[in-house]
Amino acid sequence: MNKKTVRDLDVNGKKVLVRCDFNVPLDDNKNITDKTRIVAALPTIKYLLEHNAKVILCSHLGRPKGEFNMDYSLKPVADELSRELGLDVKLASDVTGDSAKQLAQNVKEGEAILLENVRFDAREEKNEDSLSQELASLAELYVNDAFGTCHRAHSSTAGVAKFLPSACGFLIEKELQNLGDALNNPRRPFVAILGGKKVSDKIGVIDNLLEKVDTLLIGGGMAYTFIKAQGYNVGNSICELDKLDLALSLLEKAKQKGVKMILPVDNKVGKDFSNETETMTVKSTEIPDGWQGFDIGPETIKLYEDELKNAKTVLWNGPIGVFEFENFAVGTNEIANTLANLDDCTTIIGGGDSAAAVTKIGLADKMTHISTGGGASLEFIEGKELPGIECIENK
Ligand code: 3PG
Repeated sequence: MNKKTVRDLDVNGKKVLVRCDFNVPLDDNKNITDKTRIVAALPTIKYLLEHNAKVILCSHLGRPKGEFNMDYSLKPVADELSRELGLDVKLASDVTGDSAKQLAQNVKEGEAILLENVRFDAREEKNEDSLSQELASLAELYVNDAFGTCHRAHSSTAGVAKFLPSACGFLIEKELQNLGDALNNPRRPFVAILGGKKVSDKIGVIDNLLEKVDTLLIGGGMAYTFIKAQGYNVGNSICELDKLDLALSLLEKAKQKGVKMILPVDNKVGKDFSNETETMTVKSTEIPDGWQGFDIGPETIKLYEDELKNAKTVLWNGPIGVFEFENFAVGTNEIANTLANLDDCTTIIGGGDSAAAVTKIGLADKMTHISTGGGASLEFIEGKELPGIECIENK
């Protein structure tokens, strides 16, 4: 990586603005239901505290659309950070107003404060310089560690780097190392598993992966568009009729590149979108009208497992069935189990739903790396530049 990291900055006694991705899920009582992103931010924060920095943290939470809305307050995050760090992490009641300025002025070496949700300020998502400058005026250095938000060019993720010396945090460094090594320098065979509802959401990802992988296993709703494109009946399964030509061209590209692109051969189908619906297993090319595919079937699981057992690198993005419903989670669970038991294989899980699935099954610690970025990891896999990383000074 040619970007500066926090190790390249002299942080001793300095005020450091740290952009994290504390966009964590909350239940109705404002309890954090998954702390992964907070825990992932701790190494950078602890490093700064241990090196006598005055730490000013900021993040967004949800999509409050540029208005103060206490439903999206970072209070639960401040409380959790206080517990994790064993410090009183004070929360400013605004983003760059009097409260933020006062807390930032008084923060001491080895202490951390948190600004209120940056998306309470309408200028954030417009990447307005005036907000970037106000944020910059609170500190002397800028560290971006918000990997999950690196694909957004906002004031706190990108704009602020114009006004302060900048570096990446350890989380961004780790994400880039793991995702970057898998994509650009994989041990082979390199197998990617792609799921998710729509081909249209993953065109760029498939296109770029076909340049890199040896085998591409397709699951999830997008598989039915590929099957339909080849002239088969997919019943009432989710299918993008306007993407059939595109699906064919991706299959053709796989052939030209010598990539084994494998589609399901059987599916568990149901009548309605519910866990309790009547089910049966049918060939993927013979899904009857009135039925929808919700999971891969046993033959497909076996086929995919056979491909995975020799892999040296596996990249997985997107669940391969409706894993929220127990009756249609078998494919996703089986694939997760297979990955967890592979010897000498680098297993990388893209963020979002596939990360949630692996965590739900309790296999997160068996994977080499689980990305904290959903959209960000997808854009990285597509080969796009991420503004939150581009803005950081080169070494
Ligand atoms: C995410 O959860 O993917 C990031 O925090 C970015 O959030 P956003 O999609 O609302 O920009």
